[in-house]
Amino acid sequence: MTLINAVGIDDIAIYSPGHYYDLADLAAAHGIDPAKYTKGIGQERMAVPSPDEDIVTMAANAVAPLLSDGVRDAVSTVIFATESGIDQSKSAGLFVHGVLGLRPNCRVVEFKQACYGATAGIQFACDLVRQRPAEKVLIIASDIARYERGSEGECTQGAGAVAMVVSANPRLIEIHPQSGLFSLDVMDFWRPNHRSAALVDGKLSIDVYLRSLTEAWADFRRKGGLPLDAVDKLCFHQPFTKMAKKAFGALAEAAGPEAAHLGEASYADSQVYGRLIGNTYSASLYIGLCSLLDNCAENLGGRTIGLFSYGSGSVGEFFTATVRPSYRRYLRADAHRTMLDARQRLDDATYAAWFYEVPKQVEDRALPQEAAGRFRLAAVEEQRRVYEEAIPEAQLVPLQAVA
Ligand code: CAA
Repeated sequence: MTLINAVGIDDIAIYSPGHYYDLADLAAAHGIDPAKYTKGIGQERMAVPSPDEDIVTMAANAVAPLLSDGVRDAVSTVIFATESGIDQSKSAGLFVHGVLGLRPNCRVVEFKQACYGATAGIQFACDLVRQRPAEKVLIIASDIARYERGSEGECTQGAGAVAMVVSANPRLIEIHPQSGLFSLDVMDFWRPNHRSAALVDGKLSIDVYLRSLTEAWADFRRKGGLPLDAVDKLCFHQPFTKMAKKAFGALAEAAGPEAAHLGEASYADSQVYGRLIGNTYSASLYIGLCSLLDNCAENLGGRTIGLFSYGSGSVGEFFTATVRPSYRRYLRADAHRTMLDARQRLDDATYAAWFYEVPKQVEDRALPQEAAGRFRLAAVEEQRRVYEEAIPEAQLVPLQAVA
């Protein structure tokens, strides 16, 4: 058997739609003080998919920059995590597999457990790579967070995808084998099959999130996971950025003196993208991780990150990772910022039509081009979704790694 030193995330890219709705406009539409959103919830904008975008197009746009020839040939498994699936049977990953021409001798599967699915995918991927170190696993998380118009959850909506390559001897972060778990059958957030918008008991969801964090943390420590005084940065699942502050408070209280060296600076850089994109459910924790790596001014090489994943319903997992020494050479920070800066602001009527009317359309149709990304949904023909490469790669803002 080949000996491997480390397993973890070798590459990461994010994608979010080219349009957003400003929470100042949402506040004006509902007659609410905008400070409730910007300060109370900690959100500024929500990303809004155009009618020709869905979880598949966002995913394909996130994955495409990762596919150098070496990666394309080595991907043995594609795991697609989502809770806004487009089909009850076929994995969204197969559409991505087709659009991007991945190799046929590859397994493709969809994982679902609310916002937690991608973490199950990461753990599964790490174990696959430990068994077969030459293989790479592609993890995609892509979601559209949608609540009822006018509900308390509306201000936390968003859309986006993250794509990660898990490999042996990764260039970005090594994931440690210990993890702490906590599962509880609870109705804090759910979406029956006939609904496009989630139902949520907001206060309960916050309570269960915080309980899951402290229970998963305690399980992590019981199993020999690192004490918090060995952790330098924290990254929490972020349905809205204020949640990270609440999570930090609960964890610091549970960990006591072990957390004395940690403060707001330990998680602030992980909030930059989420504040501008909104909730992305299964992608949210990993967009937060990407935000931390891209935006932290300190060199994180050799530093340890504690990560908490939460999916309502509910599953929580706490685990740790060490940042690799040369990670900065492989980030796409400039491209991510350029993509977010280039977005167009939507007026209220367009936002409402795109976010709430489009999911009701089930008939066959051709879709005019609105999407800013390379891949889009061109049509629905005989109930089949037809995707296309709408913008040639050469015309796009480069999403290659900086170095
Ligand atoms: N200026 C500044 N702050 C203000 C303010 C103002 N004018 N008005 C209110 N605030 C503050 C409040 O004091 C409060 O702060 P704290 O939480 O620190 O006490 C904050 O703004 C929110 O105010 P409310 O509690 O009154 O907000 P709300 O009742 O309208 O709803 C919510 C908040 C429950 C989070 C709601 O947005 C919601 O249901 N969101 C969706 C569910 C969710 O995201 N749950 C998170 C845990 S579950 C999870 O993580 C899985 C997932 O992704 C869904």
